[in-house]
Amino acid sequence: SQTTRRNAEGAVEVGGVDVRRIAEEVGTPAFVLDEDDFRARAREFRDAFAEAFAPHAGADVYYAGKAFLCGAVARWVQEDGLGLDVCTGGELAVALRAGFPGERIALHGNNKSVAELRRALDAGVGRIVIDSLDEIDQVEAVAAELGVSAAVMLRVTTGVEAHTHEFIATAHEDQKFGLSLTGGAAFEAVRRTLEAEHLDLLGLHSHIGSQIFDTGGFEVAARRVLDLVAQVRTELGHSIDQLDLGGGFGVMYNTQHTPATPAALAAGIAGIVEKQCHELELEVPHVSFEPGRAIAGPSTQTLYSVGTVKDVRLGGPHHRVYVSVDGGMSDNVRTALYDADYSCLLTGRVSDAAPEVVRVVGKHCESGDIVVKDEYLPSDVQRGDLISVPVTGAYCYSLASNYNHVPRPPVVAVRGGEVRTLIRRETEEDLLGLDVG
Ligand code: LLP
Repeated sequence: SQTTRRNAEGAVEVGGVDVRRIAEEVGTPAFVLDEDDFRARAREFRDAFAEAFAPHAGADVYYAGKAFLCGAVARWVQEDGLGLDVCTGGELAVALRAGFPGERIALHGNNKSVAELRRALDAGVGRIVIDSLDEIDQVEAVAAELGVSAAVMLRVTTGVEAHTHEFIATAHEDQKFGLSLTGGAAFEAVRRTLEAEHLDLLGLHSHIGSQIFDTGGFEVAARRVLDLVAQVRTELGHSIDQLDLGGGFGVMYNTQHTPATPAALAAGIAGIVEKQCHELELEVPHVSFEPGRAIAGPSTQTLYSVGTVKDVRLGGPHHRVYVSVDGGMSDNVRTALYDADYSCLLTGRVSDAAPEVVRVVGKHCESGDIVVKDEYLPSDVQRGDLISVPVTGAYCYSLASNYNHVPRPPVVAVRGGEVRTLIRRETEEDLLGLDVG
């Protein structure tokens, strides 16, 4: 993860920059992204999958921009040789403005608008991942109107639901994404796509979930997708030679999670796909993956300033210390939304005070506004202290809101002792400017 160390004054340095300097220059709260860490991780995924599938048709990695996207990130991802997965016109706009080549972009989404499809086809996106039967007609119509051929993948619902250490592999498919395998919609979609004049079927796509730590869910999902590949070969005489197995690799938010290395994951999944293809007498397809969290998450920490510290008596000997910070659920909703388990540490100084368990909360008007549920901080933690919450690079800024009219924090990149603002802090004027009634 981030290259952090304590300097002689006891403050944490990240990317060679003292967090106190970051707080001074850009204020708090702020997302502090270690550029080298993000890019090293992106390249590690790219290389691990390319290597594991090198004996076959190879593999590609698309960074999932929903985890965190801005112009600089799009440029890094391009320079580092990954593709980019976007799922709205807005994410596509960021990528295109950054000069990301259209053919390396994949467009997702279960409800793409005609405007989004037009823009994507105009930009020559490398693949549109079709999510429903009626979208086949929609993409066909837009491609025909523009006089182009649309390269498409079909997202199938494998019935695998993966989350953290467990996955459920029922045939239960009660969710909004994809084309049902068991219900026959996926096969029907292949048939219709092959018949469509302006569609070029690249392959099949599946995504089983997020924050996954082992390959068991991929094993079940890949098998179900490959069974469809075999059925299409037998019944339609067409060979599908590309698969996209989605993203979802987990990161370490606390000590209970230990992610496998990208190399181990890639080798594991390659072994599974090889074995299954062998059993079904299929060529191993070209495979792509779409990690977001595992690339972006560990690269970033959120730097907060401590405000009110309140010791709340809970009856008898019990009490809880609430440490309030100057952000909260508007910059990290994951604790409130998913019961996520973050940690934090005092980063502006060291303290000899005995550690005590505290709860770190935000400044928003609801009691569920918790950033870190339970964490040890030195018992002298006080107003003005800087604390950091690590592993906030994925689904924190991208899920940020303006709840209570709190402007969104900036995202700064640190590298080699330099601080560079990637996204500036929102201002009160930005917010008031929207209010035109
Ligand atoms: N590909 C597809 C089609 C996806 O839907 C997703 C995530 C990814 C790739 C990237 O998954 P990752 O590698 O980042 O796990 N807001 C939630 C996570 C939502 C994930 C949505 N799809 C959270 O904060 O935990």
